[in-house]
Amino acid sequence: MIVAIDGPAGSGKSTTAKLAAERLGFRYLDTGAMYRAIAVRALAERLDLDDEAGVTSLAQRERVLFAHEEGSALPTRVTIGAHDVTAAIRTPEADAAVSHVARLARVREAMLAQQRSIAEGRDVVVEGRDIGTVVFPQAEVKVYLTASPHERARRRTAEQAERGHAVEHEEVLESIERRDEIDSTREVAPLQAAEDAVELDSTELSVDEVVDAIEALVHSARSAAGGPR
Ligand code: CDP
Repeated sequence: MIVAIDGPAGSGKSTTAKLAAERLGFRYLDTGAMYRAIAVRALAERLDLDDEAGVTSLAQRERVLFAHEEGSALPTRVTIGAHDVTAAIRTPEADAAVSHVARLARVREAMLAQQRSIAEGRDVVVEGRDIGTVVFPQAEVKVYLTASPHERARRRTAEQAERGHAVEHEEVLESIERRDEIDSTREVAPLQAAEDAVELDSTELSVDEVVDAIEALVHSARSAAGGPR
């Protein structure tokens, strides 16, 4: 079964997708981490982030892989080719670069193929921007998660502080709004809710409440398919 969770930065996707995967016993697939890995390598190789040919060649050449311990929903490491980028993909530099490479059509094509191959034959909770619309339009459960911009910036500021990156709320808000703008207005696979997605606003909901709602959707998708509850 595929559970697709889409939404903008800071909407709570990662936290809820991870917990949902753990509770359901599914694998967690973070497609944003894959675009982040490409961005980090592109920066390291000093590629021009808008150079579609250069960045595409990188995305076609290198596989982004998630290392999982046996039976574990969450990965322990993220690698691209021979490079471990587990920490590098979470820096403010990666935040600022990622939407530029994610806008490139042929980079998305390469990532789409890798995403489908990772999910092949598995039960997965997949989070991203275009999962319910483009990557897995046949997903049995689709959720579009939102929250107010201030709440999203507050969450991201706290997250960065935990990682030891000192950032100002206003700066984070601007960075998030810039990314939303690029992500929602790009030509290929823009951020939008699938027509058949269930929209959840997490501004006033706890993580547990959102995950409960996702679990309930999984259970009803299973009973609709005649499977176990
Ligand atoms: O965690 P956060 O919401 O900040 O971002 P993310 O999920 O790690 O995604 C980072 C960026 O990757 C997004 O701003 C998009 O530009 C891009 N992305 C995308 O285009 N398509 C996806 N399926 C996932 C991420």
